[in-house]
Amino acid sequence: MTLDLAFLKTQLPTLEIDVFDTIDSTNEFLKKLPQKNTLHLCVAEQQTAGKGRLGKHWFSPSNCNLYFSLRWPNLYPKKSLDGLSLVIAISLTKTLQRLFPLPDLKIKWPNDLYYQDKKLAGILIEVSNESQALIIGIGLNVNMKESMWTSLRLILQRDIERNTLLSELIPPLLIEIEQFIHTGFLPYLSVWPTWDYLAGKKINVKQNETLIQGVAQGINERGHLVIEDDLGKRHTCYSGEILL
Ligand code: BTN
Repeated sequence: MTLDLAFLKTQLPTLEIDVFDTIDSTNEFLKKLPQKNTLHLCVAEQQTAGKGRLGKHWFSPSNCNLYFSLRWPNLYPKKSLDGLSLVIAISLTKTLQRLFPLPDLKIKWPNDLYYQDKKLAGILIEVSNESQALIIGIGLNVNMKESMWTSLRLILQRDIERNTLLSELIPPLLIEIEQFIHTGFLPYLSVWPTWDYLAGKKINVKQNETLIQGVAQGINERGHLVIEDDLGKRHTCYSGEILL
């Protein structure tokens, strides 16, 4: 089944919604919108220039996955977004585990959902320069059949209806974002170990031009990754690329 604007509008009545057959990037579309006080959801069947973190491309083949972005009107007073990608990942994980048997679903700091060592979803958070709106982009592999990554279909051995799935994922996400804006990351710290994919793994993190090597030891109260090197020295990373 294709994406269904009428269905999404009835399920998510508080949102402005755009559904595209083809678009460059749902994040870019929302980023360019003029300032407005509404929550906006943009979904596409395919993206020709899907964006990943760190300037990477997000593979976005047509009519099989979910590529969507949410635009949160403004961030005043300005807040730290440290830990927000983890909060989004926790929300997606909780909803997916409520809907499907996915016991091995984990979150790879800072923005990936992983299932048995393969990537299932990624999150890209941006702030629009013009409007200071928060743009939260999510790519979730739903019915993709062949990939070096995984998909819900590959895990569950059946097709998943994307309109229903999207309308289940969004309301809890809105609640968690609202909560995060009020409280910051701290309330989420204690639940993080449940989903921490990297915990206890030997990793390399490339942060700017520095490479930090060591064992992942969870996160701190700001959602930054903690790594202990061979000499027992602890490092924290606010961002970076994980090389396993
Ligand atoms: C990553 O894992 O590097 C983040 C991937 C984010 C991909 C999504 S798909 C919908 C939205 N639009 C984009 O161009 N990117 C995000």
